[in-house]
Amino acid sequence: MLSNLEQQPADALLALIKLHGEDPRADKIDLGVGVYRTGQGATPVFGAIKAAEQKLVDTQDSKSYLGPEGDMGFVHALMPYIFGQDDPAKGGRIEGMQTPGGTGAVRLTVALAKRAGVGRIIMGLPSWPNHAQILGDLAVELVSFKHAGTDGKVDMDALRAAISGGQSGDAIMLHGCCHNPTGIDYSNAQWDEIAALIAAKGLLPILDLAYQGLGAGLEEDAYGVRKVLDAVPEALIAYSCDKNFGMYRDRVGAIYVMAENSEVLGRVLTNGFALARAAWSMPPDHGGAAVRLILEDPGLTAMWLDELDTMRTRISQVRAKLAAAGQAGSIDLTPLGHQNGLFSVLPLSSEQIQTLRSDHGIYMAGSGRVNIAGLTAGNIDKFIADLAVVSG
Ligand SMILES: Cc1ncc(COP(=O)(O)O)c(C=O)c1O
Repeated sequence: MLSNLEQQPADALLALIKLHGEDPRADKIDLGVGVYRTGQGATPVFGAIKAAEQKLVDTQDSKSYLGPEGDMGFVHALMPYIFGQDDPAKGGRIEGMQTPGGTGAVRLTVALAKRAGVGRIIMGLPSWPNHAQILGDLAVELVSFKHAGTDGKVDMDALRAAISGGQSGDAIMLHGCCHNPTGIDYSNAQWDEIAALIAAKGLLPILDLAYQGLGAGLEEDAYGVRKVLDAVPEALIAYSCDKNFGMYRDRVGAIYVMAENSEVLGRVLTNGFALARAAWSMPPDHGGAAVRLILEDPGLTAMWLDELDTMRTRISQVRAKLAAAGQAGSIDLTPLGHQNGLFSVLPLSSEQIQTLRSDHGIYMAGSGRVNIAGLTAGNIDKFIADLAVVSG
């Protein structure tokens, strides 16, 4: 039977990591993999996480099973940051469960939506490639629209048309902030309009918040999610702590459900538990427990907020430097200054991307997506110069 399986392509970004690792050039630049890097090019464990992990080692007295919902202390501790200090559970209409990373959360939002009868999900492209893969795997139809124009701005007309073409039983997937891969986010005014349009059309919003705190700030980055939740009766939210706590490999995430009342909410969650039980039984505990210990301790919370601030500030400084360079050959870098988060897409051809890799040791995804945090004071000038040479 197994020989019936067809060869699958390697994950493009993972293949890129390998290629970069094998490149002997000392001045090579990795703009591929989506992790934060310091000005020295490192992706260190947060000090707050180290302290929480030590506390966990010292105090954890059992590794017995939890339920499919995971660590509910972790799930609840995050809620004021996502939904606001003032009634984060919206009078008992929001509850969550822990998931293996944001990926587990996204998968569960789509699986739950499908169980509820959703057959199509409206989503802007380009998007995080795994969104479409998850939809494909769960046999939910993707109805796509153009997320952004060549001017580096959100294509609001395409979004309006996609929403207006929505049918009963459709959901819409939106990035809460720091759009991956474009970095092109909705303004607050655009979120106001989007929330009203989704509510008027009766679409089920699925909001993916994987980078809270890496854009304009923790509160600012939650604007869209909160605005949509204020406008609609029900929604699904996928959350990742893997970037804003630097926990990538520890797989820390959560799904939240907002239902029209607590009775429906309870029923939705039992479906979430059943889906989780069949997929991964329960999420890995360690990372969620460490995040909970941080959020339960004001000292560690302050330390985490400070580290998150440092990340955000560095990302925006690199963006400002790129924008200040203006034109690099045929590439206008100025829009990168007002984009958000780790990623932006450069309008390069595949030949140009290949030349940057082979002739200059600059590694980026085949889509032209660059990880802004891969640029440092030591390599940014070379990057801009090489970009100018290659793009002419
Ligand atoms: C938009 C988006 N959603 C979800 C995720 C999943 O994050 P995690 O690493 O926590 O699974 C990512 C990660 O790259 C992402 O970019």
